[in-house]
Amino acid sequence: METELAFTDFEDSTRETVRKAVAALQAGDVVALPTETVYGLGADALNPAAVEKIFEAKERPHFDPLIVHVGHKDAFHQIAEVPKEISKTVVQLVETFWPGPLTIVLPKKPVVPDIVTGGLETIAVRQCEHPVFHRIIKGFGGFIAAPSANIFGRISPTSAPAVMDQLEGRIPLVVDGGACGRGLESTIVRVLPGDKKPIIEILRPGPITNDDLKKFGKVVFAERNVDVEDSAPEAPGMLANHYAPNKPLRLLSSPQDFRPEEGKRYALLSYRGQPKDGYLGAYEWDEVSVLSPGSGRVAEAGIRLFHAIRQLDQNEEIDEIIAEPVPDRAVGKAILDKLRRASVK
Ligand code: TXA
Ligand code: MG
Repeated sequence: METELAFTDFEDSTRETVRKAVAALQAGDVVALPTETVYGLGADALNPAAVEKIFEAKERPHFDPLIVHVGHKDAFHQIAEVPKEISKTVVQLVETFWPGPLTIVLPKKPVVPDIVTGGLETIAVRQCEHPVFHRIIKGFGGFIAAPSANIFGRISPTSAPAVMDQLEGRIPLVVDGGACGRGLESTIVRVLPGDKKPIIEILRPGPITNDDLKKFGKVVFAERNVDVEDSAPEAPGMLANHYAPNKPLRLLSSPQDFRPEEGKRYALLSYRGQPKDGYLGAYEWDEVSVLSPGSGRVAEAGIRLFHAIRQLDQNEEIDEIIAEPVPDRAVGKAILDKLRRASVK
């Protein structure tokens, strides 16, 4: 299959690309789409045959449910139930964070095909903030199921060329909407009734942080992150590492942890490139990539993370990627989560 890369650099190209993407969605095809988090592989969420194409292109196992994107805030009521006990909080979250990188898990309505939710009784919904995505879903008029546009187990793409690297030849259309502004997948939450305050359970850390959410309830981190791509216990060893580059990546917890092997060429994925952190001078690195130069900003590091890993992965002068830890706070939690999953055990 030939994959078309469609541009949105100016208004005329954007209009034409939006038209093509809408036509593809209406025809039951899959399309890679830009979002503010990472690129998604979208299809009509209410068309099971179209959704099946997402699983095929990604080689994604069917037990892993998809996120459904809505075209406007109120549309989620058509596909999800909002239990009375949590409705006030859900409305507050939607009003505050949508459109944006927050996904909410709610009981699903029967209209949603089982293939979307992996047979679960719940559905994950969000409204995307990206202007091109917004125009496409508005033109389409329905719901777009879209997981990250990577092959199962690999790093999520944050640019159209990164999508092409993984999915060229497998899908008909990639919409190039530029680099993703957030660079990390949406935060996924579930709301539960609590004693004094509602409980907001973070099922996957992301750009909307603990601090952002705590005004709306008691924030807890789920013991089991829902990002299951690597952790299906049914098939140990059969699944690739989640967020895995092609080269080995190792997350250190201190500079002393690093024991180089003779003859191997190592790149350092540095948080802020500060010698005083101890990693920069710990070795004569063959390459150094800094996520947020200077004092270090975790949100900036998050934006660059997948892009930086991809670049080091493509560098033929490097055998292994060594990652510094980032602060375990705010968006840093999501970065550490990805680095741990990408890391060789
Ligand atoms: O930012 C994002 O969320 C991106 C863009 C494209 O929107 N999408 C994304 O999708 O990251 P994906 O498929 O890579 O991750 C979806 C995650 C999976 O880990 C899945 O387990 C979880 O959402 N999920 C989906 N439905 C769920 C449900 N009903 N209950 C719990 N987790 C669910
Ligand atoms: Mg994913």
